[in-house]
Amino acid sequence: MARQTLTPDLIVRIEKSGVRFNAWDTDGVKRTSEITTTTRKKAFEGDYLLGRFVGRTGKTFWRRVDNVDVTPTTDNMSSVEVPTDHAEVLNFIHSSYSLKPRGLMMNELKWKYLIRSAVRGKNIMMTGPAGCGKTMAAKSVVNSLDRPDYYFNLGATQDPRGTLIGNTHFESSKGTYFSESLFVKAIQTPGAVILLDELSRAHPDAWNILMTVLDYGQRYLRLDEQDNQATIKVAEGVTFVATANIGNEYTSTRVMDKALMDRFTIVEMDVLSEGDENELLNYMFPNVDATVIGNVAKIATLTRTESNSETARITSGISTRTTVELCGLLYDGFNLEEASEVSIYPQYDSTGGVDSERTFVKQIVQKFCDDGSNEDLFNEEEIAEAETVD
Ligand SMILES: Nc1ncnc2c1ncn2[C@@H]1O[C@H](COP(=O)(O)OP(=O)(O)OP(=O)(O)O)[C@@H](O)[C@H]1O
Ligand SMILES: [Mg+2]
Repeated sequence: MARQTLTPDLIVRIEKSGVRFNAWDTDGVKRTSEITTTTRKKAFEGDYLLGRFVGRTGKTFWRRVDNVDVTPTTDNMSSVEVPTDHAEVLNFIHSSYSLKPRGLMMNELKWKYLIRSAVRGKNIMMTGPAGCGKTMAAKSVVNSLDRPDYYFNLGATQDPRGTLIGNTHFESSKGTYFSESLFVKAIQTPGAVILLDELSRAHPDAWNILMTVLDYGQRYLRLDEQDNQATIKVAEGVTFVATANIGNEYTSTRVMDKALMDRFTIVEMDVLSEGDENELLNYMFPNVDATVIGNVAKIATLTRTESNSETARITSGISTRTTVELCGLLYDGFNLEEASEVSIYPQYDSTGGVDSERTFVKQIVQKFCDDGSNEDLFNEEEIAEAETVD
């Protein structure tokens, strides 16, 4: 019987970092934990790529692949061992901008501040409006540091106790027993970087549980709120990186407790300037017409400027998440008008007809769509102003 030829569903390159062998796939996602150390080490030493295959039973396995035309790049996804000596720490922080992935737009000072806070074991909170890159930046910093990492999306969980502490189960053979959560394991891992995504959307019970964990003077997790005895200490060098939508338009975001906020160093993500938005979109979509991309960046900037003005006719500007989605549609052959109709307009309220937020945004978009014969909504001055915002 002829041997079945399998094609890998993922390909990784191994990169040595300190004493670790990290695996990065073609999208720059770290796959280290999925592959045994021996396999990674051998691949690094033998200078070959590894592919992920799905066996007949549905189980996945990794093995050497040759003759592949896709080459995973580790160019902008690298991680390094964090030094302990002060001179080295200084050098590390100040040369850390090279660790930032190219696809993440974030200014050098903010990035360095983020790295510095992580290296110094601070609790970090990334804030900013929806879709401005908070989660992306938090994940990038976690990837850049060669430390064990854990991810928890607190906005998605309905069961904070189960997620952060664990669950009590009952089985007739075993009786009642307690199974601790992954979070309990995470905080006991020395040097771990723990991402608490969407903390602002978490249930208030989650905030209460986290209070003592995040407090620099306490740093313990209480397993049972009724009983003061059972506590778990947070291990040496654990860093927490949280993300939050603070002071934005989303009602699902609860107002976070001041005491909880005080336990974090805040790193505010900037909304991109027109120039940066343009650069990012051109970098991500080299095949989309640069003039159209320029118009997308202008539209987004106009809506952002408008939403921040005193006489704002819309409550929020178009986010970078949306401009990226929109350019994806342009890349797939939709025109600007069509792409806007499906990706932008549904985000704006249509009640109020001609006075609605949707009509307002539509008029901005249409200005950039065709012959410009639409009635002028903005005069040249306003457009020029938005274009020069930096
Ligand atoms: N500063 C940025 N640099 C590069 N890409 C960005 C940036 N901001 C947003 N994006 C794009 O938007 C997408 C969404 O970003 P991300 O999930 O990080 O937003 P967020 O701020 O966490 O949003 P939310 O408040 O909804 O959680 C990213 O996958 C990326 O494509
Ligand atoms: Mg997010």
